[in-house]
Amino acid sequence: MRASAFGGGFTWGVATAAYQIEGAWDEDGKGPSIWDTFTHRRRTIKDRSSGDVACDFYHRYADDVALTADLGFNAKRFSISWPRVMPAGTGAVNQRGLDFYDRVVDECLARGVDPWVTLYHWDLPQALQDRGGWTNRDVLGWFGEYVSVMAAALGDRVKHWMVFNEPLSFTSIGQLLGLHAPGKRNPFGFLASVHHVNLCQAVGAGVLRDLVPGGDIGTSQYLSPVVATGTTPIHHKAERSADAFVNRMFIEPNLGLGYPVDAFPFLRFMERYEHDGDDKAIVVDWDFLGVQYYTRLKAPPLPIPYFGTAPMFGHDWKRFELTSFGWEIRPDGLYDVLQRAHGYGRFPRLVVTENGASFNDVLAGDRVHDRRRIGFYEDHLAAVLRAKNDGIPVDGYFAWSLLDNFEWAEGYRTRFGLVYVDYATQRRIVKDSGHWFRELLSR
Ligand code: FCB
Repeated sequence: MRASAFGGGFTWGVATAAYQIEGAWDEDGKGPSIWDTFTHRRRTIKDRSSGDVACDFYHRYADDVALTADLGFNAKRFSISWPRVMPAGTGAVNQRGLDFYDRVVDECLARGVDPWVTLYHWDLPQALQDRGGWTNRDVLGWFGEYVSVMAAALGDRVKHWMVFNEPLSFTSIGQLLGLHAPGKRNPFGFLASVHHVNLCQAVGAGVLRDLVPGGDIGTSQYLSPVVATGTTPIHHKAERSADAFVNRMFIEPNLGLGYPVDAFPFLRFMERYEHDGDDKAIVVDWDFLGVQYYTRLKAPPLPIPYFGTAPMFGHDWKRFELTSFGWEIRPDGLYDVLQRAHGYGRFPRLVVTENGASFNDVLAGDRVHDRRRIGFYEDHLAAVLRAKNDGIPVDGYFAWSLLDNFEWAEGYRTRFGLVYVDYATQRRIVKDSGHWFRELLSR
């Protein structure tokens, strides 16, 4: 594989998220987020850990940005912690929090690494959760205020923006399954959150349009081919509703296509949360869609559809290789989701804003021989190239992730990095996959 085959203007990046790497959870005036509250509760995280310290990126950002450049990447995607810059979610701005992101951006630019900013990667200010969080329609105003602060602070230097990271994940796992912050299990709170997040996509994109001239505005969605587990009409119905839930519920409203109620009838209750004019206010003209791809999902029929993780995220473990997360490795699925997103005819460009794999990495001296991760990246990049050669306008790829990090409810045992983190010392050790990227990108 040659990087030049992707073309000169291609963006090669690594992706990270604030809560998963920053640490410094209560430093320099930061307010608590729902993830601070959630991890500090007993028995929420498999290894009983938290992101209190994580990779200590808050203090080590300069070295980590240098490492990103050293591996040959020309972009870094990272998220802003809302409560770090607005401790109460609205009102007072914490200058020391803003200063941190200023330094990160300047460090990136000094190293020739283009900063790509995600505004919301799951760490809502706890103060807003106390007022209902995403279930409260007032979040439209709160979010608009926050986005204005960030656009004004960074918009002179940051051109690439993603309004959200994976609305599907934080609404369904956080509000329906209760396995992520804020740990709720409420189908109606979930529906309200879905609608408010979709409206906030438009609020955020609108603010960015106004305040960042020439801004490149998108959002990042989890996409995955969904397949039936059998051939009967019941199996096909299950497949259709799971597909609407995973792939359509967060994309189509913003394109003015409404909710896929026919395929997923539970969405008819969305009417409770829709106000007059929402159908217009929700529409967004995206510059790009951020595609996040990890695996393929299966949809077995259930009496109450899709309110449990195991069946929906059930995988074909007999036939395909799995990551240590238990996710099927299916590079062809990446081609499929790119093709499908392009099929809407509404996204001028596609960017793979996350793709990666967890394996049980072992530190052997100064090396981590993660051969399978290299294979994963080779195969998925080949799928991207095939899409590109078939005329699908995909012009960037971000590996998840630069560093091993706090993997939400899984804690630290699940490692996704191109760089190994020894959490006891915070030492970074470039894995063989990191060396492989450096080799690929230097040629
Ligand atoms: C994605 C998340 C990211 C990380 C990877 C493994 O769904 O956006 O934060 O957890 O999965």
